[in-house]
Amino acid sequence: MNQTPSPLTDTFGRHHNYLRISLTERCNLRCSYCMPVDGVKLSPASHLMNAEEIYSIAKTFVKFGVDKIRLTGGEPLVRKDFPQILELLSTLNVELSITSNAVSIDRHIDLLKKSGVKTINISLDTLSAERFHTITFRDYFDRVYQNILKLIDEGFLVKINAVLMRGINDDEILDFIAFTKTHPIVFRFIEFMPFDGNQWKREKTVSYQEIMEQIQGKYSNDQIIRLQDAPNDTSKNYTIKGHQGTFAIISTVTHPFCDQCNRIRLTANGQLKNCLFSKKENDLLSALRSNQDIEPIIRQSISSKFAVRSGLDGPESFEDPKQHEQNRSMITIGG
Ligand code: GTP
Ligand code: 5AD
Ligand code: SF4
Repeated sequence: MNQTPSPLTDTFGRHHNYLRISLTERCNLRCSYCMPVDGVKLSPASHLMNAEEIYSIAKTFVKFGVDKIRLTGGEPLVRKDFPQILELLSTLNVELSITSNAVSIDRHIDLLKKSGVKTINISLDTLSAERFHTITFRDYFDRVYQNILKLIDEGFLVKINAVLMRGINDDEILDFIAFTKTHPIVFRFIEFMPFDGNQWKREKTVSYQEIMEQIQGKYSNDQIIRLQDAPNDTSKNYTIKGHQGTFAIISTVTHPFCDQCNRIRLTANGQLKNCLFSKKENDLLSALRSNQDIEPIIRQSISSKFAVRSGLDGPESFEDPKQHEQNRSMITIGG
């Protein structure tokens, strides 16, 4: 059999240099688009990767060409050994980042700086404290908002992720844009995506086109500036003339961007997912624990990656709820 040169290069020639590691299935918020109402069945603690196992698997990926690692969850900061994990990973030659809900990130600022983290992605779906409670079932808006300001003050590049849902927060698009006037952040609108148990319906998704129409209703074409996207960016980036910050749209549902995909995911229980929507997973943790070489498993996973959204290419297949029941809930994937 012909083997591709690197275990991280797939049959379409895409090189996967960006590893997203989920550290935990737990979260201190309860966002309905992410966590099913009845919660998820948590893996027993012994089935989760410990700090050394995370480091060992990450080191193997770095050897094959990964140069960017993002830590996700659930909420990665609820893991008690988060400082130890971050310190271990900071010894690898990678760009290290984190996606967090910022509820408790103020406690980790020195550690994040010391570990070389420069960019922090924060989930925030509303600028209203009352609505924050409706979406997350928790009262942490002020903490999150103050922590975002603190991160900016401390010199981190902050990207804010807002999942837009029709009838819930789509009336805040222009408020979010106004926020970029005075804050040097990247504000990213995310099309609501379907995962197991999140009660997704196509009608709830606010599309790239609709978001732009609202923005174009307020700002002229001269004021809306299309920016150059970074290589492998999931988002289409813009700014409004004179604003300190920028905004972007992540359009997985209406305009997938899989031809540029460089991402692979490792779940907290050590399963490799070659796509956000993959139904199939490859068990790296069991292999590691039984002293097997994980390279052939990684190679197998990457080489079986589909061109688009794990085979859900047309709108019909993507919108079939049965397809998503075979994938995990987002809380256990980590974005
Ligand atoms: P950057 O390194 O800043 O590009 O971050 P990121 O966008 O990779 O990370 P983040 O965790 O902030 O992701 C935000 C959201 O973007 C995720 O929750 C998803 O909704 C979406 N996203 C991230 N990676 C992918 C991907 O590989 N495919 C798709 N379809 N969506 C993704
Ligand atoms: N659709 C789109 N994005 C989602 N996220 C969580 N669930 C969904 C969903 N159903 C995003 C959140 C968070 C990131 C980790 O995942 O915005 O920032
Ligand atoms: Fe990559 Fe899958 Fe996301 Fe497409 S949907 S960009 S293939 S992870």
